[in-house]
Amino acid sequence: MTAPMPHQGTVQSTPPLATGSPPQLDYSRVQAYWTRAQPSLLGPYMMDGFGFPAGAGRFRFHGEQKSIARTIQSLAPSTSVLDLGSGVGVWTEYFAQRFAKVAAVEASPILYEAMKARCSRYQNVTLHNRDVLSFEPTRGLGLVFLGGLLMYLNDHDVRVLLQRLIPCLEPEAIVLCRESTIRRGVKAIQGDYQVVYRSVETYRSILADAGFGVVSVQANTAYINAQMACEFIKKWKTLVPDRFHCLPAVGRFAYWGLRLCYPWNTRLIPWLFARMGYEFPSLTNHFFVLQPSRQTATNRRKQPLHTPLIENERFENAR
Ligand SMILES: C[S@@+](CC[C@H](N)C(=O)[O-])C[C@H]1O[C@@H](n2cnc3c(N)ncnc32)[C@H](O)[C@@H]1O
Repeated sequence: MTAPMPHQGTVQSTPPLATGSPPQLDYSRVQAYWTRAQPSLLGPYMMDGFGFPAGAGRFRFHGEQKSIARTIQSLAPSTSVLDLGSGVGVWTEYFAQRFAKVAAVEASPILYEAMKARCSRYQNVTLHNRDVLSFEPTRGLGLVFLGGLLMYLNDHDVRVLLQRLIPCLEPEAIVLCRESTIRRGVKAIQGDYQVVYRSVETYRSILADAGFGVVSVQANTAYINAQMACEFIKKWKTLVPDRFHCLPAVGRFAYWGLRLCYPWNTRLIPWLFARMGYEFPSLTNHFFVLQPSRQTATNRRKQPLHTPLIENERFENAR
């Protein structure tokens, strides 16, 4: 099954955009989209329909693994993990291989089934096919992972969800979010594919309202690499008549061209575009490491915990 063409990349071409007051997503359409999504790594990564080889999803996954591994390295094997909006369960499986207990929550039945096929052999995993907003987390969590979930929730629900987590977190717990971001403000896309893209600053303010301090923010270069390929292909599709798209060839060419130059291209290409007055890629992505604000304040006094309490905002021009 092919998912509808994702509107992930060139935001300008995606009608209609709502700006100004906090945009409201239509959750029934969000769910409808994910119910039709491709149950593969490329589907939840929004990399379907560009002619990329399956290895493109794996390459991004391995790139992200390096960042995530650094963030969670201080956690003990006895840690309990909660993976919210877990898609086909690639991260659930990754955590199951490292930690004592993992719970994963995914609303889309088709993605849930794919996750079940992948993860049911792990004794330490519990899977839930439900909406994260109606899920009651249990206490004792050492790691909560939200991989591309908050962009499908309205501001109010982001706060409610995060506030509900606070009493369930162990004192040294990490909440790790990976979210698509824009350079400034908020942009909501309200067609069949509903999503809200927020800037790092907007996230920072919503997270603070929810009672969380941001321990670190880091650009997701593996995402930026894939996103540049997606945006190149979208441009190609607008410039070239349908019958000449040759996506399997062009997609592979774009993917391999970028892959061979990774990771320095994720810095150089946005920088070159910025010199010409363009913001490319239009969408970026960041890892946010969070802790309840009370704790962030204590740690600031105590000194660094997991990562230095400074903002690790690398690759300034990719933001
Ligand atoms: C971008 S995908 C990311 C999947 C996975 N975390 C990963 O990194 O591969 C977002 C996922 O969140 C799920 N999702 C969105 N809104 C949800 C909700 N309210 N409750 C549960 N899952 C939700 C979608 O079905 C989709 O699987």
